[in-house]
Amino acid sequence: MFVSDCLGVNEHGHLTIGGRDTIELAQRYGTPLYVMDENEIRRACASYKGSIERYYGGHGLVTYASKAFCCKAICKIAMEEGLGLDVVSIGELYTAKSVGFPMDKVFFHGNNKTPQELLAALEYEVGQIVVDNLVELEQLNQLAASQKKTANILFRVKPGVEAHTHKFIRTGQIDSKFGLALEGGEAMRAVLEAIKMPNIHLKGLHCHIGSQIFDIEPFQESAAVMLRFLADIKKETGKELEILDLGGGFGIKYLEEHDPVEYDQYMKKVSQTVGAVCQELGLNTPFIVIEPGRSIVGPAGITLYTVGAVKEIPNVRTYASVDGGMCDNPRYILYQSEYEALVANKASQPRSEKITLAGKCCESGDLIGEGMMIQPVQSGDIVAVLATGAYNYSMSSNYNRIPRPPVVMLRDGEDRVVVKAETLEDLIRNDLL
Ligand code: LLP
Repeated sequence: MFVSDCLGVNEHGHLTIGGRDTIELAQRYGTPLYVMDENEIRRACASYKGSIERYYGGHGLVTYASKAFCCKAICKIAMEEGLGLDVVSIGELYTAKSVGFPMDKVFFHGNNKTPQELLAALEYEVGQIVVDNLVELEQLNQLAASQKKTANILFRVKPGVEAHTHKFIRTGQIDSKFGLALEGGEAMRAVLEAIKMPNIHLKGLHCHIGSQIFDIEPFQESAAVMLRFLADIKKETGKELEILDLGGGFGIKYLEEHDPVEYDQYMKKVSQTVGAVCQELGLNTPFIVIEPGRSIVGPAGITLYTVGAVKEIPNVRTYASVDGGMCDNPRYILYQSEYEALVANKASQPRSEKITLAGKCCESGDLIGEGMMIQPVQSGDIVAVLATGAYNYSMSSNYNRIPRPPVVMLRDGEDRVVVKAETLEDLIRNDLL
């Protein structure tokens, strides 16, 4: 009935998440409010981990892409579930470090890491620095030499695969700011350089073709391309690299009509490709890494808002405005992303009205969605926007100096705050006169 398994409706006709009444949560913590179900997150972690064990005999690692939702609690959950971590900035790395995340299971990505970030990665002894380009390679080699250390690296490679998703979240094609191209030999030149460098240890390769992808073929295609490149490297240098990181990007259900492939099916099909291509090329199966972000946390989260003004513009549309908006969820204004929403206090009623759900920011484009089907909505109702666990809190801002909402995590029905609400004092904390 709902886009996520952790949602339901109780005897009061209220939406529930993780078995808890959303109206009670809204009353207790106020709105806007992010709510996440930890059980759902742990289920997703365990399911990916199970697939890696099934299809690669455990010769692999699931790393959680923390850009989807990063805070201390989620790093701790990923750690407890035995996952690795994909970080993309010193801030994400620092968060991981703060909960004692095992650094050997951290993959540090980014197309333009600063020297400060590279130094932190060396100091923390991050297991894998995913080098994006030759400038970074050179810089890392020098910094590692200055620290008398060896940097363990993967190279980010563009497999040249086009994924069917929004152009802002597509990354595997040649026209991308990320990674080294196979075309023209750029990636091979980088490999040859790295092998000569005294303070670099090249452990493997990485690719990531995009996000919110529903097809399996692009993942299979990119795995095959990357394995062929591993075989080329072996031919050229005699070295068989040990790690192949195939990235993340598995799509989730935002709308009822979305029908994502079971993650286990992705894993199964891709592992079949990996097995077949390795056999064809005479390669040992590398240690396989995957990096899901959205599919670990997205379905586990909702956002609760209170409706203020409802503005019916005859023959045009009805705007229902809520007490948040692009400051806590910028995905509509960025990608025209679609969500399901419902009136949480009328969740058992039919969704009979078409509305535009508007935010409170001073910006016409500040919408959560247009043409959304929802229960009859009035001022004072609580609206829930579903599947907001990924790329909402992590992409939030203080635009219009609106403080960020808190994040409440539910575990076995028990609630706790994992990110406190920002206060007005927080907003002016760094201001100087
Ligand atoms: N690995 C790398 C190197 C990535 O760049 C990403 C996402 C992931 C893994 C995780 O992908 P996922 O499994 O979450 O699809 N802000 C956009 C999504 C940007 C994704 C960026 N990279 C959105 O809100 O849709």
